[in-house]
Amino acid sequence: MMNGKKILLDVDPGIDDAVALMMALFDPQLEVVAVTAVGGNVPPDQATRNVQAIIEQLDPPRWPRIGRASMPEMGLPTRNVQLHGPDGLGNANFQVSELQHRHASEKVICDEVRAAPGEVTIVALGPLTNLARALARDPGLVSLVGQIVIMGGTLSGSGNITPAAEFNIYCDPESARAVFRCAATKTLVPIDITSQVAFGYDLLDNLPSETSRAGRFLRRVLPFLFRSYRQELGYEDIRLNDATALVAALHAELFDVELAAADVELSGELTTGATVFDRRRIREWRTNVAVATKVDVAAVRDTILRGIAAAGEASEDAK
Ligand code: BDR
Ligand code: CA
Repeated sequence: MMNGKKILLDVDPGIDDAVALMMALFDPQLEVVAVTAVGGNVPPDQATRNVQAIIEQLDPPRWPRIGRASMPEMGLPTRNVQLHGPDGLGNANFQVSELQHRHASEKVICDEVRAAPGEVTIVALGPLTNLARALARDPGLVSLVGQIVIMGGTLSGSGNITPAAEFNIYCDPESARAVFRCAATKTLVPIDITSQVAFGYDLLDNLPSETSRAGRFLRRVLPFLFRSYRQELGYEDIRLNDATALVAALHAELFDVELAAADVELSGELTTGATVFDRRRIREWRTNVAVATKVDVAAVRDTILRGIAAAGEASEDAK
C-alpha cells in the first residue's frame, strides 16, 4: 500500500468532497499522503473539522496527514443555496475527537511535494486558496509537483453559483488566477463535464452494507444531497462533481482534454469568478492548462460506483 500513487486531496467538505475522499482513502492503488482542508462549502474551521470527522468515521487503513484551513485574504462569499447543509455534511453533525494542533494546509502541501519531488498528484476539490498560498510560499514547487487536477470553472460559460461562475473559482478568484497563471502542469475538470455524471435514487438502494463504516457514513450524508438537489435545483438526481474530478486524476483515458489558455475574472458586475478562455484563432494568451472537454459518462459512473463499493468492502466492521 505504501507504494501506491501518491495523492494529496485539497477539500472543502462538502458531501461530494467526502465521497471523493472516501474513494481515495480505500483505493489500494493510492497512497493519500495528506488531506488539506480549505474553506468553501463551509468556513475554514468547519472544513478542518469535517476532514477530521470523515477520516475518523471511515477509519481507513492508513491515516493521512491533515492540513488546517484558514480564511482567504478576501474572505468567503456567503452561499445562498446550501446544497451540503449548514455543517457541510448534510446535517450529520459528526462529533470529532479533540482537534489536534494542525499545520496550515499550505505548509502541508509544500512539505509533501518537497518530500517526493515529481511524484505527488494534487487533486484540488475546493477553492484554490491553499494551492495559491503554497505556490507563493515556495515558488520552486511548480517544477516539483507531479500533477495538479482541479475541479472548477466552466467551459461553456454557464456557472452554478452565478450565471457566469462555478463555485470553487468564485469563492476565491484571486487564488484561482494565481494557480492558473503558474507554470505547473494542470488539468481543469469544469462543471460542464462533472455535471454530466448523474446518480439517481438507485444509488441509495445500492450503498455498501450498514456493517461497513463507508455504508454507515454514506447513509448519514447522501440522502441530504438528494433532498437539496430536488428542493434547491429541481433535480431528481445528484452530481458528485468532486468524485468525477478524482476519477479524471486517476483515469485520464476516460476524458478528452484540450490544451487551452485560461484566466479568471477577478471582479465584474456580473462575471466575478468566471473562467475566460482565449478562443481566438490567433491566441495572444499563453497555453496554461489542459481542460477536460468530453467525458465517458458511463465509465466514470461505473468507476465511482466501484470505488464506493470497494470502500464498503474494505471498511467492514471486522476489518
Ligand atoms: C464544486 O462546488 C462545491 O460545492 C462542490 O463540493 C464542488 O467542489 C462544484 O461547483
Ligand atoms: Ca468541493
